[in-house]
Amino acid sequence: MSYPFQITSLEQYHKDYKRSVDEPEAFWASVAENFQWRKKWDKVLEWNFSEPKVEWFKGGKLNITENCIDRHLKTMGEKPAIIWEPNNPEERVRTVTYNRLHKRVCQVAQMLKNNGVKKGDRVCIYMGMVPELAYAVLGCARIGAIHSVIFGGFSAQSIADRLDDAKAEYIITCDGAYRGGKDIPLKSVIDDALIGNKTVKKVIVYTRTRTPVSMIKGRDVWWEDEMDIAEEQIEKNGVVSFPAEEMDAEDPLFILYTSGSTGKPKGVVHSSGGYMVWTTYTFVNVFQYKPGQIHFCTADVGWITGHSYIVYGPLSAGATSLMFEGIPTWPDAGRFWDIVDKHKVDILYTAPTAIRSLMGFGLEPLKGKDLSSLKILGTVGEPINEEAWHWYDENVGKKKCPIVDTWWQTETGGALITNLAGVTAAKPSWATLPMPGVQPILVDEKGNEITEKDENGLLKGNLCIKAPWPSILRTTYGDHERCRTNYFATYENLYFTGDGALKDENGNYRITGRVDDVLNVSGHRIGTAEVENAINMHAGVVESAVVGYPHDIKGQGIYAYVIYNGHHGDEELRRKDILQTVTRIIGPIARPDKIQFVNGLPKTRSGKIMRRILRKIAEGEVSNLGDTTTLLDPGVVEEIKNGKL
Ligand code: WTA
Repeated sequence: MSYPFQITSLEQYHKDYKRSVDEPEAFWASVAENFQWRKKWDKVLEWNFSEPKVEWFKGGKLNITENCIDRHLKTMGEKPAIIWEPNNPEERVRTVTYNRLHKRVCQVAQMLKNNGVKKGDRVCIYMGMVPELAYAVLGCARIGAIHSVIFGGFSAQSIADRLDDAKAEYIITCDGAYRGGKDIPLKSVIDDALIGNKTVKKVIVYTRTRTPVSMIKGRDVWWEDEMDIAEEQIEKNGVVSFPAEEMDAEDPLFILYTSGSTGKPKGVVHSSGGYMVWTTYTFVNVFQYKPGQIHFCTADVGWITGHSYIVYGPLSAGATSLMFEGIPTWPDAGRFWDIVDKHKVDILYTAPTAIRSLMGFGLEPLKGKDLSSLKILGTVGEPINEEAWHWYDENVGKKKCPIVDTWWQTETGGALITNLAGVTAAKPSWATLPMPGVQPILVDEKGNEITEKDENGLLKGNLCIKAPWPSILRTTYGDHERCRTNYFATYENLYFTGDGALKDENGNYRITGRVDDVLNVSGHRIGTAEVENAINMHAGVVESAVVGYPHDIKGQGIYAYVIYNGHHGDEELRRKDILQTVTRIIGPIARPDKIQFVNGLPKTRSGKIMRRILRKIAEGEVSNLGDTTTLLDPGVVEEIKNGKL
């Protein structure tokens, strides 16, 4: 496969960037022409940010799975689409060719149809990192059902909330999942999530760990049985087929829940056409993908990175995507390097938190591992500190591999600000330049563009984007007004990212982190309000306030200040009880690292918690707390400072 839209020189980057801004419709039409459309679009772009309304390639008809699979069959049918590396290195690797992927996806689509799933229905997917997860996602897309993948680290309560919000009628899950030395009983979590649920009709269970599960008659069915039935239906005289549903470019492809600064998680909705174009375009350009290369993205498909750069982007580009079931530190901290060596990986895309955690094991785990196949390295999910960047560069890339620092969000669908490997320059800890079609702007609190440089000669402000790119979120499921107020109402006519950034004289951007009440813990987005709500559910807790603090490995840790008036157990036990509660309400990923019991929280006279002060204390900056005179009771600050953990 060739990629006519691949940017191969710095000059071309500047030229394409300029054209994408001057003539966005003509530019994106020329990119979109390289995909398979059943019918061409009527209009390339229609938009306003006030509603917001964004439509790309409207009237265009397609099915994303025909682009990810069918169009490759003639020339690449026997080429590997997915290479699956199991959790246990002793277990057999599975190589899934495009032909095989086609068959499995057709089977899943048929299985879903047999179970009553139709275009537009919401299917919740809660599985481990097995190839069947990719088949499930693509099978939904093939019949036009909207998938909502939920990461395996979320609790039954979190799943229940998401099922309700999406009014999901179907679930695809596994009996269990392997993660390092642990088995996670996914089906039993689903069973808990379904207590009281009124919408779910069917649960399809794939067998991975063969852990005992309760299968409820009439509701729960085994994946294997259903796939066998489907196999007979899709194959006639050795020819496999399942007609893909015709989708409008603007029909929703999936929902993915993500945390914001307030309330419960929002269901970010992505479209079919724009998302396909953007994920493919960015995959090919950011990683400078060459046909035949093996791309290893270490994310989980439960997060946006896995959706865009394990499944949709690479497959649409006809790439080989390596899918890994395990964790970087099991059976030992050399796991990534073994995988790179064993499969001769060309591109490695991971998170700064993984790099920092592996740095902690020193160079021993890298010894004897042949990493010479690596050509390009990437990071995503959080700002990368220079120390980690250089460690990655020297010890993994051996100073020969460009590192791309890709900044983006669940809401953006794919990378927006990033260098292009070997084409535009890298700058350690800087995401650098916007992709064609992306027009960033830094603004102050009032929305005025920042024009004054700071003492280091940099512009510093809140990061917004001026115009839509093809894979911007379209809405938040079931509540469009929420989408408007969250992203488009802070500043008029701008998409607000929630991040702060710096800009240098060459137009490079450095993302400094969230400026709202959202934490980034090990690359996972967690709202402080969500964690507080969970802590407050615990009997005995009167009130709590949650802030982030710098954490060597996780990037940010969770620090909770808790007012407690119960009488059960000592402090340590109470802490454990609270952790247990958070695990139940949200999941283990949201467990606070530190819980400090306090008698009061610093509040203004109007009752607002002064988080700025709590953040400073958690960060250890106790000497310079700023103005505390507006506090109702300045005395509580002293007490909190003295009790700091
Ligand atoms: C942060 C993950 C700095 C940022 C794809 C953003 C980054 C949030 C980078 C989105 C990066 C992501 N440099 N910060 N390269 N990439 N972020 O929705 O704060 O899980 O707003 O999407 O992660 O997290 P999300």
